[in-house]
Amino acid sequence: MPQISERGLEMPESPIRKLAPLAADAKKRGIKVYHLNIGQPDLPTPQVAIDAIKHVDRKILEYSPSQGYRSYREKLVGYYRKYGISVTADDIIVTCGGSEAVLFAFMSCLNPGDEIIVPEPAYANYMAFAISAGAKIRTITTTIEEGFCLPKVEKFEELINPKTRAILICNPNNPTGYLYTRREMNQIRDMVKKHDLYLFSDEVYREYIYTGSPYISACHLEGIEQNVVLIDSVSKRYSECGIRIGALITKNKEVRKAVMKFCQARLSPPLIGQIAAEASLDAPEEYSRDVYDEYVERRKCLIDGLNRIPGVYSPIPMGAFYTVAKLPVDDSEKFCRWCLEEFSYENETVMMAPASGFYTTPGAGRNQVRIAYVLNKEDLRKALILLRKALEQYPGRAEDD
Ligand SMILES: Cc1ncc(COP(=O)(O)O)c(C=O)c1O
Repeated sequence: MPQISERGLEMPESPIRKLAPLAADAKKRGIKVYHLNIGQPDLPTPQVAIDAIKHVDRKILEYSPSQGYRSYREKLVGYYRKYGISVTADDIIVTCGGSEAVLFAFMSCLNPGDEIIVPEPAYANYMAFAISAGAKIRTITTTIEEGFCLPKVEKFEELINPKTRAILICNPNNPTGYLYTRREMNQIRDMVKKHDLYLFSDEVYREYIYTGSPYISACHLEGIEQNVVLIDSVSKRYSECGIRIGALITKNKEVRKAVMKFCQARLSPPLIGQIAAEASLDAPEEYSRDVYDEYVERRKCLIDGLNRIPGVYSPIPMGAFYTVAKLPVDDSEKFCRWCLEEFSYENETVMMAPASGFYTTPGAGRNQVRIAYVLNKEDLRKALILLRKALEQYPGRAEDD
């Protein structure tokens, strides 16, 4: 039999999806599973987007321009302006989700063997895209004890070598919910400048910042405009994961030129998706406000609930809709499997993502899980009861510290 490629073998399994077969089996046994494991928002998509799709009146569902429709990109300019991000339609390339924007950024800016520094825990697919591009992720560990704040410059300097080409941040962060402060963003800017690195900044959760702290986009940082590549997506802000629309934004013409070649090879971003995404920009202000308010309440419900369970600790996430929580267990992957395979309470159980999949450092995150608060409050409360019961019964409970 022909062999699988080294890259194919090296590709990590998604830590979010790898327990899915166990959840499917639990459901077959009649057990209701509360999904705290996945970042698929459950809130409705703006009605204007649904209507736009319903009323698509075209004779041909054709390819769209490789960089995306101009009308959409022009309208996006106004959206970014609201966040103090000053770009033109030409700076924006529409991609198949934020995922493709990450991949094309890597493909266009990195040579095989080049290194990207990423604070961990990190969105797991970054590792997968780095492998696809032949690049190497070097992680710098942030800790739950310090609330996942950015490590000091010296920690970065230890990793920087002639192969280092980029720093990648996710702000607000998936999986930790951390929001970088102005001081931290300035620290990143100075490192990027000093070592002439790319700064890939994934800001797909900018809508969800809960602390009143300012949102500092990489695009706000002066003096590194040519180094910044912004990754964006409509998946999370409009509950539109399925339309596969994202964007890669950069002022760097050479980067755009390279990215465009990858865009041309894949021909076109989704046509129907762009129609929905463009319409979404006309969603009434209450839409975003309602969604935001709902997440504020869920966050409170979840974090208060988690911290009331003996032995559990979660920092208060400042943004996005995730948290990384520490559990009093020997191994969170074993615990998450056990919840699906062996545990149930009143015929229900809970599914979480073991946090080890968000770290590359061996052993890191072993007693942590990532929890997404994309369930309504009532379900979140039920899921918290299940978690408490599961921890009481789990045979591999660790001593509380
Ligand atoms: C941090 C981050 N970046 C990018 C993505 C990719 O999203 P999409 O490809 O749906 O736009 C996700 C999805 O969960 C994410 O959490």
